[in-house]
Amino acid sequence: PGTMKINEKNHLEIGGVDTVYLAEKYSTPLYVYDMNLIKSRLSEFKKAFSIYSKPTQVAYASKAFSSLALYQILAKEGVSLDVVSGGELHLAIKAGFPAAKIHFHGNNKSHQELVEALNYNIGCIVIDNFTELDMINQLTTLHQKNINVLIRITPGIEAHTHEYITTGQEDSKFGFDLASGQAEKAIKTALDCAYINVIGLHAHIGSQIFETDGYKAVIERLMQHAKQWKEQTDFDLKVLNVGGGFGIRYTKADEPLSIKDYALSIVESVEKNSADLHLELPEIWVEPGRSIVGEAGTTLYTIGTEKNIPEIRRYISVDGGMADNIRPALYEAEYTGVLANKVYAQYDTTVSIAGKACESGDMLIWDLALPEVEQGDYLAVLSTGAYGYSMASNYNRLPRPAVVFVENRQDFLAIKRESYDDFMRLENPIADSI
Ligand code: LLP
Repeated sequence: PGTMKINEKNHLEIGGVDTVYLAEKYSTPLYVYDMNLIKSRLSEFKKAFSIYSKPTQVAYASKAFSSLALYQILAKEGVSLDVVSGGELHLAIKAGFPAAKIHFHGNNKSHQELVEALNYNIGCIVIDNFTELDMINQLTTLHQKNINVLIRITPGIEAHTHEYITTGQEDSKFGFDLASGQAEKAIKTALDCAYINVIGLHAHIGSQIFETDGYKAVIERLMQHAKQWKEQTDFDLKVLNVGGGFGIRYTKADEPLSIKDYALSIVESVEKNSADLHLELPEIWVEPGRSIVGEAGTTLYTIGTEKNIPEIRRYISVDGGMADNIRPALYEAEYTGVLANKVYAQYDTTVSIAGKACESGDMLIWDLALPEVEQGDYLAVLSTGAYGYSMASNYNRLPRPAVVFVENRQDFLAIKRESYDDFMRLENPIADSI
C-alpha cells in the first residue's frame, strides 16, 4: 500500500527510502511509517465526510499509535484527537495539540486525569459510567468550570468484521446500557448538572469491521432513543459519535471497504433517520485509529536462527516478536511479510516466523511463502502500524524498537530505540540496610 515499491536493487522501498538502508542505519526491529499514507488516509476521511451538510469531526484514536511527532502532524492536518489516558493527554499537550480538539475516553478515568483534562480545557469528555458522572459534577462545580460531554452508550450492537450481533442488554464494561434505562438516567442526571453541557451520544461497536450494517443499526438505535429523550427532557442530539472500527488489509484475505463507502453509508443513514424521526441533523463524529495508521506501518526484522523439522516445519526466528507485536499471540491475528533485501525472487520456501521471546506462543506468521532465506536477511512484516508499538512491552527485557517516519525520500527518527540505560533509569539497587 501507499508509497511502497521495489527499487532497482530489488529492495523494498517506502516513502522513497530503501528499507535495507533503514535497517542498517537504525538497526532492527524497526517500525517504519509511511507518512504520506497516513496523511492521505486523513484527507480521505475528511473528504469522505465533507458530503455532509453539517460539521463533522474525525478524531484520530491515539491508542492505535501515538508519538509526539505524530501528534504534531495530526495537529497540522487539522483533525481531532481521541485520548484514553492521562499519558496520551500529556503527550498530546506536550506536542502542542489544540486542547479544544481533544476528546477524552475511558471507563476508569482517575480523579487526577479528570482534573488535568479540565485544567487543559479539552474539547469534550466521553462519560462512561455513573461514578465518573458524579466525579465530573463535583469537580466542575468545585472549580466552576464548564465541560462538554458525550454520553457513551452500550448500544447492544456489536460488529466483528463481516457480521454484527444485536442484543437487548450487552455485557460490557463500557458505557451506559439502553435496555435497563441506565442511559436515560445518565442523560437526565447530566442535564441537571450545572456545569455539564451534554452535547450528544457516543457508541463504538467494534474494530476491524468490513461492512456497514452495524454502523447503520447503531445510528438507527441511537437516533430513535435521542428522539424519545428529546420528548421527555430537554436533551438535544447535537453530536452523534459512531466510534471507530473501520477495517484494513493485513493479508490478501482482507477486503475492507473504502473510507468513502463507510462514510457514505454513515452519512446516508444519519440523514434518513433524521428525516424519519423529524430530528435536526446532528454533527457526525468518528474515531478511526487502525484505518489511519495500520497499513502505513511496516516492521523490519533481521533473520536470525533456524530450526528445521523435516517434513513438519521450518522455524525461522527474527530479532523481535510478541514484545513489539502482541497481536498474533493475543488475537491470532494474521500478517504477511516479504524479504526486504530480495523482494522479487522465487517464493519456493514455506517457513514459519518465530519471535525471540521465551515462549512457544511467540509466533508472528505461520506458513509464510518466502524466497530462500538466510541469516542476516531482513524481513518486512506489513500492516503493523496499529496496536503494534502502542501495545509493545519489555517482555524478556527486550528494549522497545525505534520508530522511523519516512516521506519524500527522507527518514526521521520519531521515537528512539529503548536502551539498557533506559531500563536502569527506573531501577533502584537495594540499600545496605535491607
Ligand atoms: N473509539 C473507541 C471508543 C474505541 O474503543 C476504539 C478502539 C476506537 C475508537 C478505535 O478503533 P479502530 O478504528 O482502531 O478500530 N488492540 C486491538 C484493538 C482494540 C480496539 C480498542 N478500541 C487490536 O490490536 O486489534
